Amino acid sequence: MCGIIGFCGNEEAVPILLEGLEKLEYRGYDSAGVAVLSDEGTLKIRKCKGRIASLREKIGSESPITGTVGIGHTRWATHGEPNDVNAHPQAGMSGRIVVVHNGIIENYRELREFLERRGYKFQSETDTEVVAQLMEYYYMGRGELMDAVYSMLDRIKGSYALGILCSDFPGQIIAARKDAPLLIGYGEGSNYIASDVTALLSHTRTVSYLEDEEVAVLSKDSVTVYDSGRLQVEKELHTVEWDVSAAEKGGYSHFMIKEIMEQPEAIRKTVSPRLRDGRIYFEELAEDADLIKNCSSIYIVGCGSAYHVGVVGKYMLEKALRIPVEVCLASEFRYSDPIVGPDSLVIVISQSGETLDTMAAMREAKKLGAKTLAIVNVIGSSIAREADHVIYTWAGPEIAVATTKAYSTQLVLLSMLTVYFQHQLGKISEDDYGAYIAALTDLPDKMNEILDNIGNIQKTASKYFNLDSMFFIGRNIDYALGLEGSLKLKEISYIHSESYAAGELKHGTISLMEPGVLVVAIATCKSVMDKTFSNMVEATSRGADAVVLTTEESAKTFEDSVRAILAVPETHDLLQANLNIVPLQLFAYYVALNRGCDIDKPRNLAKSVTVE
Ligand code: G6P
Repeated sequence: MCGIIGFCGNEEAVPILLEGLEKLEYRGYDSAGVAVLSDEGTLKIRKCKGRIASLREKIGSESPITGTVGIGHTRWATHGEPNDVNAHPQAGMSGRIVVVHNGIIENYRELREFLERRGYKFQSETDTEVVAQLMEYYYMGRGELMDAVYSMLDRIKGSYALGILCSDFPGQIIAARKDAPLLIGYGEGSNYIASDVTALLSHTRTVSYLEDEEVAVLSKDSVTVYDSGRLQVEKELHTVEWDVSAAEKGGYSHFMIKEIMEQPEAIRKTVSPRLRDGRIYFEELAEDADLIKNCSSIYIVGCGSAYHVGVVGKYMLEKALRIPVEVCLASEFRYSDPIVGPDSLVIVISQSGETLDTMAAMREAKKLGAKTLAIVNVIGSSIAREADHVIYTWAGPEIAVATTKAYSTQLVLLSMLTVYFQHQLGKISEDDYGAYIAALTDLPDKMNEILDNIGNIQKTASKYFNLDSMFFIGRNIDYALGLEGSLKLKEISYIHSESYAAGELKHGTISLMEPGVLVVAIATCKSVMDKTFSNMVEATSRGADAVVLTTEESAKTFEDSVRAILAVPETHDLLQANLNIVPLQLFAYYVALNRGCDIDKPRNLAKSVTVE
């Protein structure tokens, strides 16, 4: 949510800032801006409503801004509508201090009144302008830049990643963070700040992660980091392994379709290093061998698609382990006084590892004494660093706002964890273990079978793309999958869509069934397939149309009752969801494509949600 980039070096800053912002655009894209500081201390800002492309155009059409130090921002509006004035950077009244910000300053109203009483005039409706003005207030009073930074940070409440320029200090960027991601990139004769590594991959692979309440001072030759007590801290440097091309479209028209197609490989990368001699090994858990034995309840916490993975996980873990599993939306968990203690295992799922609600939920769980295990994609992200145990999905960078390969790899890891724990508890036979491993090893190939034959899915999407309303129904894991199928569809195609446990449809929602409504029935769980079939017929009897997603083996059952069947190969029960999700992702993708939607950057959304 909001992307920040900063650069100090020997080259012109603007092209580097714009390129970085393009990489970060998926974090928010309603407005953007840059500020550049020249060697003489001239600070210039260019910003506007719209995408980075609009900013590029604006910069090209106005008088050039030159300088080798600069900060940039791509925004997802929280306070104040997306417009030119509310776009970042925001400046203090005298124009000496300029700020880009990700997060929310919760006490900005009070601070704004404080400053207004002292004659400060505000231009924007943003909480960020308060940061710039407050810092200027302290700076003008004392003339000490770092004093001003710390005094400002002392007064603001909430979350922030900040990039700050001061015209009296050409050649320097100040950065600070609390509850919002910010990392430092180390180049040769150049240094960077960025919200995530994708913006830096073409410049450097050496990074450090700012911790909460740390402040960094960057010049082209040095980076110095201080803690909240203004003591210098040594930062650990990390090398990022991600390939630059992983964050490029590579010939595909959208990142989303590229990432859908990458799923078999992503699964392979997630699974293979954890398989040895027909057994699952989680080295990440090796030091806590009794983790599951000491556990009497499991919670799975996440937001959006990560939460949906959790719902699948509940069905899998409860059935296999006979330990109660609760799936919680992260935004609810932290405020619900959860019954969590030292004998609870809290599994936190997050692609970005930065989602604020998920992070806060994890902190709450830790405070209550629970063990936390994070399933995360972004290496070195905040959640990964704070969890007791972290298992990386190794899906590589995911750029499309609608998640696909991160979801799939999270799903496969939860199934692996299920079997791993089941084995530790002595609740799985050798034969069953072997059958699971065989299916796991085959999974990428079976996914490829679906991806090699997408004609039927494209045809189905082109038949239904102009409907106004769709319902996804299923039972058990098929129901959990419907949650994700429905979310995928609505987030990128803007079609109203809901997901229901098939048996629940008749308790109210069936009143909406009429011609022009599509029901997508997911029917792959054998034990409840007939029941889902009946529920689907209840809907079609009332005029709704139906598409069925089922296994190739069961497709015959439905042939006479529906106009379209999406058939997937059959696999192990714990892995079937991994195959089923692929046609649902593709269906959403092709529906959105037919509707001419902006698939990678759907309206109102952002990929990394770092505000509450
Ligand atoms: C946003 C994204 C979703 C994602 C959710 C959780 O809403 O658009 O795709 O599932 O955040 O993100 P996380 O990074 O924690 O998995």
